[in-house]
Amino acid sequence: MDSPCAALPDRILALIRPGSRGITVAAFLCLIVLLSCRSESMFRGKRASPTLRQAAAPHGVFIGAAADSAYLGEDNYGNLLASEFSQLQAENEMKFGIIHPRPDTDPTPYDFSGADALVSFAQSHSMVVRGHTLVWHNQVPDWVTKGRYKAPKLATILQGHINTVMGRYASKVYAWDVVNEAINDDGTVRDTLWYDQPGIGYARQGTAYIEHVLRWARAADANAKLFYNDYNAEIMDAKSDAIYAMAADFKSRGVPLDGIGFQTHVDLSFDKPSTLASYASNLQRFAALGLDLHITELDIRLSDSSPASLNAQAKLYGELMTMCLQQPKCRVFQTWGFTDKYSWIPEFFSGKGWALLWDVNYQKKAAYTTVHDALTK
Ligand code: XIL
Repeated sequence: MDSPCAALPDRILALIRPGSRGITVAAFLCLIVLLSCRSESMFRGKRASPTLRQAAAPHGVFIGAAADSAYLGEDNYGNLLASEFSQLQAENEMKFGIIHPRPDTDPTPYDFSGADALVSFAQSHSMVVRGHTLVWHNQVPDWVTKGRYKAPKLATILQGHINTVMGRYASKVYAWDVVNEAINDDGTVRDTLWYDQPGIGYARQGTAYIEHVLRWARAADANAKLFYNDYNAEIMDAKSDAIYAMAADFKSRGVPLDGIGFQTHVDLSFDKPSTLASYASNLQRFAALGLDLHITELDIRLSDSSPASLNAQAKLYGELMTMCLQQPKCRVFQTWGFTDKYSWIPEFFSGKGWALLWDVNYQKKAAYTTVHDALTK
C-alpha cells in the first residue's frame, strides 16, 4: 500500500487560500508532515532490512558462513560476517593439517593461531562457532599420512588430537563435525587412513571406527554437539540410506551422535520438485531419530553470471531456506564462504563459480534477497 505521506503535499497545497493565515498554517502543516514522514521512512527503512541473522533469530535458526582468518581485517569481509551471520565456521583452520601440522614429539605440534583468531572474532560479535573437522581423509599432514604408523599408534595420535583440539575450544565451539565424508556414494565405508589404511583398529568393521571416535569426542567435551557431516547426502539414495542406517544404529545403541551435517554443494540441476521433495523427506527421517540437522556448506555453483543464471540460483537458494524453516530440526543454514571473492568453487570445479550470496565486490546478489524474503515473509 502506498504511504499516505506521498499524497500529503497535494492535500496541504489544497488548504492554501489567499490570505496570510492560510499560508502560515500550510507552512506549519508542511513542517509537521515532513518531519513525521521522514521518521516514518526511517522506521520503515529499518524494518525493511534486518540482516539475515536478525531475520533468522525468531526462527531459531543460525545463519552461518565458513570463514578464513586471513580476510577478517578486510573491512567489507569483517563487517558483513559480523552483521549478517550468527554462526562462524573455520573453512580450513581447524582441519588436522593446519591446526596440528607437526608431530607430537615437536615442541610446538599445534598451531592454533588461525582458529583462535576466528573464535575470538566470533565471540566479540556474539556469533556461535561450529567446529570443522576432526576425522577426515583430506588435509591431513604428511607427518601422519607418511608416518608409517600402525593402527594402535594411529589411534593414540587421533585420540590425542581430538582431546587437544576439542579441549582447547570446549565451551567455545558448540558443535563439531567429528567425522567428515566417511561414506562413499554407493553407501560403502570409504577406505581411508582412519578406517583401514591402516585405520585406528576397526578395519573391515564398517562404521565401528566412527562410533569409536564419537565416543572419544564425547569424552573430550561432554557439552559439544557431535555431528557426522557429508556431501551428496541430501536426497534419498544409497548414500543417505547408509548414513541413515548408521545414525539409526548409533541412536538405538546410545552412541553419542547429536546431528547430521548436510553439506549441500549443489548446482542448478538440484532445482527440481522431486529433488527438493526428496531432500525434505530425507531431513524428516533423520529428524525422526531425534537428530539436529545442519545445512553446513551450502553453495550453488553456476557456469556463468548471466541474469538468468543468477535468478535461477536465487530461486533455489530461497527454496532451500524455506525447506529448512519448514523442518523444525533444521537449526543451521550455513554457506561455504559468503562472497564469490573467496569461494573454493572456481579452484575445485573447473569453469564454475558465482556460488554465494555476495559477488566478488561484496554486492548482494539476487540470492541474498530470496534467502532474506524466505526468512521475513
Ligand atoms: C575446502 C575448502 O573450502 C578449501 O579452501 C580447501 O582447499 C579444501 O577444502 N567439503 C568439506 C570442506 O568438508 O572442508 C571442503 O573445504 C569442501 C568440501
